[in-house]
Amino acid sequence: MTDNQSTQTSTKQKRGEMIAVCSAKGGIGRTLLTVNLAVALFKKNIAISIVDGDLQFGDISLAMDLQSTFTMKDVVDDIDSLDEYSLANYLSSHESGVKVLSAPERPEYADLIDEKILNKMIDLLLIQHDYVVVDTGAGLNEKTLQVIEKADQVLVVTNLEMAALKNTKLMLETLEMLGLRDKVRLVVNRATMESVIQAADVSDILGESDPIYIPNDFQIASQSLNIGIPFVINQGKSELAKSVFKMAEQLTSRREISFIKTKQPNIISKLFSRKRVKEGITE
Ligand SMILES: Nc1ncnc2c1ncn2[C@@H]1O[C@H](COP(=O)(O)OP(=O)(O)O)[C@@H](O)[C@H]1O
Ligand SMILES: [Mg+2]
Repeated sequence: MTDNQSTQTSTKQKRGEMIAVCSAKGGIGRTLLTVNLAVALFKKNIAISIVDGDLQFGDISLAMDLQSTFTMKDVVDDIDSLDEYSLANYLSSHESGVKVLSAPERPEYADLIDEKILNKMIDLLLIQHDYVVVDTGAGLNEKTLQVIEKADQVLVVTNLEMAALKNTKLMLETLEMLGLRDKVRLVVNRATMESVIQAADVSDILGESDPIYIPNDFQIASQSLNIGIPFVINQGKSELAKSVFKMAEQLTSRREISFIKTKQPNIISKLFSRKRVKEGITE
């Protein structure tokens, strides 16, 4: 057996770590943070892929200036024979080294990506990457909850606006109810923006003792998204980039390599089964 073969065999069952980036509302900075976090993680020399789980209006490719030849819609036709090697053909490569599984190009294709397919794609990516970062799209639906349930770490992104805080609070309460709160880390984006609510009050309002704070810098943020160059690449010395590098550091320092776990009971039905909710079963 060659070295290469033995490495492949020994890493085959290795499971990378999955980070879900979520938010109650859209327009909060999920895409910006997903892309920059992934590139910041890559700078630590670990294999990273992004899954654009904003299935209707995913804009990860745009934020990285990628002309994706394939999207996850193309994966659907191949799903039965799909393995980690064939899935690699559907990924787009960013010049940073980060791989991207793009969202379907049209919103009407989103339904083609069902929970089972999403699950399989993520499982296969986790075999070959140290980190798989998933931008979930805004709000909670069955697919997002499945991603959150599967993730090792969940970043819930908010900003200081009243509506964002109100909805983030509801989201955190729901995750608590589902027993998923422990792996959630709150990210207060645009924390230095002028607002009636101060960043320092957010931890009390949302009951989170140690949020990650990301400063406000609209010029760098919007330029990053509009020209498709993640700011950690071309604005590495900015406070915004420094905060993302710090976040990457915090996330990787908690890492323990885990192995594919036996299937957990599906908790999504807890939220979506009216019967159970009516009966007050929260388990
Ligand atoms: N830290 C930040 N400072 C300033 N503007 C930001 C910051 N984060 C995000 N933005 C701006 O917020 C808007 C939404 O960001 P985006 O990543 O597309 O959000 P989402 O994916 O949650 O819908 C963009 O115009 C972006 O430039
Ligand atoms: Mg987005």
